[in-house]
Parts: sequence; structure tokens; C-alpha cells
Amino acid sequence: MRVGLTYDLRDEYLAEGYGEEETAEFDSPATIDAITDVLTRRGVEVDRIGHVRHLAARLVAGDRWEFVFNIAEGLRGIGREAQVPALLDAWDIPYTFSDPLVLALTLDKGMTKRVVRDAGIPTPAFAVVRDSHDARQVDLPYPLFVKPLAEGTGKGISAASRAENPAALVSTCGELIAKFRQPMLVETYLPGREFTVGIAGTGAEAGILGVMEIILTAEAEPFGYSFENKERYEGRVSYRLADDAEAERAGETALRAWRVLGCRDGGRLDLRSDHTGEPNFIEANPLAGLHPVKSDLVILARLAGISYDDLLGRIVDSCLSRIFPVAARAA
Ligand SMILES: Nc1ncnc2c1ncn2[C@@H]1O[C@H](COP(=O)(O)OP(=O)(O)O)[C@@H](O)[C@H]1O
Ligand SMILES: [Mg+2]
Repeated sequence: MRVGLTYDLRDEYLAEGYGEEETAEFDSPATIDAITDVLTRRGVEVDRIGHVRHLAARLVAGDRWEFVFNIAEGLRGIGREAQVPALLDAWDIPYTFSDPLVLALTLDKGMTKRVVRDAGIPTPAFAVVRDSHDARQVDLPYPLFVKPLAEGTGKGISAASRAENPAALVSTCGELIAKFRQPMLVETYLPGREFTVGIAGTGAEAGILGVMEIILTAEAEPFGYSFENKERYEGRVSYRLADDAEAERAGETALRAWRVLGCRDGGRLDLRSDHTGEPNFIEANPLAGLHPVKSDLVILARLAGISYDDLLGRIVDSCLSRIFPVAARAA
């Protein structure tokens, strides 16, 4: 079986002059190597394709694969994560993880919250702020939390993200809109515990891998799971599996959101509890990082006794059971 691997190699973009932060979500050679090794050990031939433009050239040249293991996040546009799946759909080539609809939707945290909220899943009240006029119109109780509408990896999260009053909100929104050139998501500040929930599988077959609590130490930036705290997590962040009632509730809420959104194969959802201790949906990560050591999903799996090989195995098995449903049922 020949399997393609699509990814955005960080070094390739750094060499082209892109910055550290704008390439933060891209992959290291360690991740590509680790995925290649696991797939090779499963007996498949791995073809490293690279990013969407390499894929486009290969498809036009006539190359084909049994399926593609896709972790490409894309560089440009709100549809950037959807580009590889959309191209593969056009050529009728199956791939791991979610379809273009899910990957475009979940990149926009505001639109995602509308869908999740419509399903009755708790998520903080919010507003989308495009300019200073919008910022002055926000009519939500303080404190509020401000973050870019369509970023990941803690980008744009700082002490200023927590706004205590309208003046602070207007100023933070102004600075972040200028820096990130996109609207801001403004939502009720969640003061409670923070969880990330790992999920494997699709739809009715989806199950929780574990509920991991994220606890910031005294050495961490105190205001949330920020870019700096994620990049230099050792000593700053303590991760532990949680199984008390609140954590279990976080797991159930995450699984409901996973199914409502239509996420596939494997990923993570982030939640944080409100002042009553109710875990609220923050965001979905249907293309969760797969660095063999430091990605949250991999850390969570490790704590749950699931090796990197097993984690990728579950993702691939979920993908294969979608591609070959009859064979999987017969097996
Ligand atoms: N409404 C909120 N209240 C309090 N903290 C929040 C809120 N939203 C996000 N955060 C903090 O910011 C971090 C990053 O937010 P998130 O939406 O998960 O962005 P990213 O895509 O960068 O992971 C969260 O892990 C949490 O610590
Ligand atoms: Mg997050």
C-alpha cells in the first residue's frame, strides 16, 4: 500500500523568510520522521509529498496514493487547512482527519461557537470584533477574553487578553487586529480549570482517549495557555490526567462537540470551566499537533498509557474503516 504524507515543514518556510510565529503551527522534521516510521512499521510505503502546492503538482503529474495521511495546516486564507482535503476530494483520494467543511469551520472560532451553541453545548457568550467601532459596541459582562478569531498555538494570547473594562478591550482589540490582520473573538472570561480532551474515531465510533488538565506553574505566564507557555512548557505547565466529576463532564461535552462538528479520526478539544464549574467549549483542534514528544495530544496519550505508535494506529484504523467500511466490519 502506498500512502502519501502531506505536511507543512516549518524549516521550508523559515528558509523562505517567514517568521517564527507565523510558522509556529508547522511541522518539524521530527514529526514527519516519526509519522513516516510508524506508517512504515505498519508495512506501508510512505511517500513524502509536502505542502498543498507540492500535492497539486504531483496530482497533475498523475501520482496517486491509496490514502493520504494529512497534517498540512496551510499558509494562506481562512480555507488554508481545507485546501489539501479539498484537492484530494477532487481526485477522489481518501485521507486521514476531517473534511474541508470541518477544517474551514473550526479555523473560525466564532463560526464554530455558533454551531456548537446551536447544539446546546456550553460555550461562553461572545462577539466578533472587526474594528474599534465593533469593540465599543460589545455589550457583555466583564472580565472578557480577547484572542484572534483564526489562529492556534496560543498566538495572540497575553496578559492583555483578559480585559477588565471597555477601555482595555478597545485597546487590546486595536493592537491585536493591527498585529494579526484579522477580527478578534471576544468572549466571557472563564475563571475555572482548563482541560484538553483527546478523542479518536469518527461519529458513533469516536471515543475519549483521556481528559488532560492543564495547570500553569508559578514559572508560567499567568494568563492562559499562551504561545510562550506552549513553546517552553517544561517547568511552566504541568499536565495530568483528570477523572473527577468535572473532568468527566469535560470529556462528555467534548465528545458531543466532536460529533456535532463532524470531526474525524482523531484530535483534541479545549475546554475551560466557568464560575459554576461547568466545562465550556473553547475550540476544536481537528488537526492536532503530532510531534512525537511535545504535542498536547501525544502528551495526553502517553499519560493514558497509549504509545505514539498506538495513537497513530488508531487514527489510521479510523480512517481505513471509513474508506473500507465493509472490510472493516468483516474483520
Ligand atoms: N474565554 C476564555 N477564558 C479564559 N481563558 C481563555 C478563554 N479562551 C481561551 N483562553 C485561554 O487561552 C488559551 C488559548 O485559547 P485557544 O482558543 O485554545 O487558542 P489556541 O488555538 O491558540 O490554542 C486557552 O488554552 C486558555 O488558556
Ligand atoms: Mg487551544
